[in-house]
Parts: sequence; C-alpha cells; structure tokens
Amino acid sequence: MTWQATALTLFPDMFPGTLGQSLAGRALERGIWSLDARDMREYGLGRHRVVDDTPFGGGAGMVMRPDVVAAAIAGIDLAGRPLVYPTPRGRPLKQADIRRYAAGPGVVVLCGRYEGVDERVLEASGAEQVSIGDYILSGGEVAATVLLDACVRLLPGVMGSGESAVEESFADGLLEYPLYTKPAQWDGRDVPEVLLSGHHAAIARWRRAASETVTQARRPDLWAAYQVGAGQDIPRVAGIRADADRLN
Ligand code: ADE
Repeated sequence: MTWQATALTLFPDMFPGTLGQSLAGRALERGIWSLDARDMREYGLGRHRVVDDTPFGGGAGMVMRPDVVAAAIAGIDLAGRPLVYPTPRGRPLKQADIRRYAAGPGVVVLCGRYEGVDERVLEASGAEQVSIGDYILSGGEVAATVLLDACVRLLPGVMGSGESAVEESFADGLLEYPLYTKPAQWDGRDVPEVLLSGHHAAIARWRRAASETVTQARRPDLWAAYQVGAGQDIPRVAGIRADADRLN
C-alpha cells in the first residue's frame, strides 16, 4: 500500500523538489509513496484569490485566513492521516514522531507562509504543530520536505542493502560515532587503529564510547537524558576529545 503525503501549499512547484531525487525520488517512482501538492490558492477569495489578511491587534506581515485554510483542508481526504503544521512555535520534531508518521498511512502537511496561519483553524483542525529547529524559515515547505524525507527513508523497501536504515543516532539516545573509509592514512591523519583490527567486540566498544563522547560534547540535553537511562559514566575515547573546537 502506498504511503500518502499531501502538502497544502501556496507554492506547489516547490514539490517534489529534492524529494524527487535520490532515495526518496526512486521510492516515489516505484510507488512506495505518493506526493500530492495542493495549491491552497485555489481556495482563495474573490477574483484575486486572496488567502491572507493583516493581523488583528496590529503588527507586521500577513496571516493566512482560517476560512481559506479550512476549505483547503476540507478539500482533501485525510484518510486517517495526521495533519501536521510545521512552525517555529511547534514542539521539536523528533525521530520518534517520524517513526510514528512512517508507520501510519501517510501525512498531510499544512505549509504556512507569511507570518503564519490563524490560530483558530489550527485548533479546529487538531493540527500537530512541530518545529524542525530554533530558526525561522521563510515558509513551511522546506520544513515539510525535511519531515517527508525523514519519513520516506523509513518506509519498507526504500533502503537497499547498500543503505542500511542507520538510526543509530537517536535510536538509543546517542549521536552516531565518527565514520572512516579508505585511505587508512590521509593527509597525515590515521584512522583509529582499532577500526583496522578486525576485532568486532573491540570495535563495538570503541564506537559506543565514541558515541557517548560526542553526545556529551555536542548535545548536553541528549547526554543528560541518556545518563538517566544508562546511569553510568563511560571513559572517553582517545583521539575524540570532548571539546567544542574538535567537534565543530
Ligand atoms: N516554518 C518556519 N520556520 C520553521 C521551523 N523552524 N520549523 C518548522 N516550520 C517552520
């Protein structure tokens, strides 16, 4: 069964965009998922198809009208799919959300433009408000693309044998360990010796410790949560220092 994505947008030409390439693009061609970009302008009012107006209470910019957005939502068959509204005011989007979306029949993503969407239609529609990070994009389309990319790679059959669904970052609450490939010596820099040893248990131990070191240095929030679960301190790995200079 095809995983169905719908984007409600004022810029349908932004889709599939990068989702038409590489892994997601091949999966789209193969029918593993579908993408329907619906132009909300079609629900705009009057001859000029107006979709926005000035904010009550004053202030800069324009707000998308609730009647127009509601009509656009009513114009699609949700078919059991969550309605997701990307916004910097949303709760942080997590890999757990992505797994939940990917496990369902698909998603409908409402892409805001201008200053945003009238709050009442967000309430009335029960939209899930999610943020992809603490920065402001010019609209929801790029955030929708991020969300869909993350979902599609988890769909059954999308990953070939050459592209394992590496979910090690976040799956166990840690960032992924660093990766190395040939040549073993490059520009005066060596690959950590244990990785060349063929000693699988030692490699696994090194990778776990490296994950913990990098998480501690870069993501104190994840590290604190992980420690509550793991309840222990792991020694840091030689060659991977926990200072910001090395890791930035
Ligand atoms: N729209 C604009 N900025 C955004 C962000 N950081 N996350 C999600 N949607 C957005």
